[in-house]
Amino acid sequence: MKRVGFLTSGGDCQALNATMRGVAKALYNELGTEVEIFGFEEGYKGLIYNEYRQMTPRDFSGILTKGGTILGSSRESFKTMRTPDENGLDKVAAMKQNYRRLELDCLVILGGNGTQKTANLLREEGLNIIHLPKTIDNDIWGTDMTFGFQSAVDIATNCIDCIHTTAASHGRVFIVEVMGHKVGWLTLHAGIAGGADIVLIPEIPYDIDKVCDAIARRNRAKKGFTILAVAEGAISKQDAKLSKKEYKKKLENYEYPSVSYELADEIQKRTGADVRVTVPGHMQRGGSPNPYDRVLSTRLGSKAAELIIAGKYGYMVGIVNGETCKVPLGEVAGKLKMVDPNAGIIKEAKRIGISFGD
Ligand code: F6P
Repeated sequence: MKRVGFLTSGGDCQALNATMRGVAKALYNELGTEVEIFGFEEGYKGLIYNEYRQMTPRDFSGILTKGGTILGSSRESFKTMRTPDENGLDKVAAMKQNYRRLELDCLVILGGNGTQKTANLLREEGLNIIHLPKTIDNDIWGTDMTFGFQSAVDIATNCIDCIHTTAASHGRVFIVEVMGHKVGWLTLHAGIAGGADIVLIPEIPYDIDKVCDAIARRNRAKKGFTILAVAEGAISKQDAKLSKKEYKKKLENYEYPSVSYELADEIQKRTGADVRVTVPGHMQRGGSPNPYDRVLSTRLGSKAAELIIAGKYGYMVGIVNGETCKVPLGEVAGKLKMVDPNAGIIKEAKRIGISFGD
């Protein structure tokens, strides 16, 4: 008998349910009644406070296309995992105790970077862990692709497509602010897919003069409008030079809701253009997973089940060069996968005239 715990932690994304379904279907299919699955509610919270429910095959039916997570999620910061809660509870000890109390063989943890760090901590504490890489940011080291990313690319691209028509009608400069936290994967892919003229990502700090030059070039070519895909974490060359302390200070007195509004203001002042900002925000994490993510999630989930059946724990299941693989959790936890400014995709985008503001 295998007793397996599931939890989904951190910001949600489109293919969490599809991935859990992949693990569960493969386990039920291979082990029949010799497997029991327990779902912890709202991420690590459920594990800490022993809030769980026993799942049945029925729970995993009809959820391939369902966004969000049937288990709920929460953000439990890795940094404070070792800090007792308001009642003095040792959270790590509580998680271990609840895992042991349920006599689990392993815990399947779906989540992004922060979640992965806590998963690794639990592994170091002796629990059997399998991690599955979730995030629309695609910033997890050791896998080419995270689930959720391609669905978010679809949504952000669709947003840029919609903006295109109205930008053209009004001859405006439009900034579409794309999620992605500290990395530019989502902006880069949606920007290229949506035909953005300027793409600004955290990995390539921008020079406002270069951004305005690119807009002026389009005006001279009588294009009439310009679209910028700007990552929420985009940063100017000037700001990138600041120390962490100085940058923090700047943000304390920051008058804009986000970098896009600062950019809009600067562009308007320098060029006199009619500038608008669109922020699709959490829409990018919502709705149904796209077909790519459904396939990826099913594959990652099924691979995770293979490891569980074989009793191989302490891994993240990723995809590299089109094949699923197991990556030691200790080797990837805490590492951020960023866009390489010298990568082929950047060079190819620049060759067709996309400006990165550098
Ligand atoms: O990590 C996923 C993500 O959507 C990031 O792109 C974004 O910066 C962040 O989560 C938003 O977090 P929250 O949902 O807590 O506002």
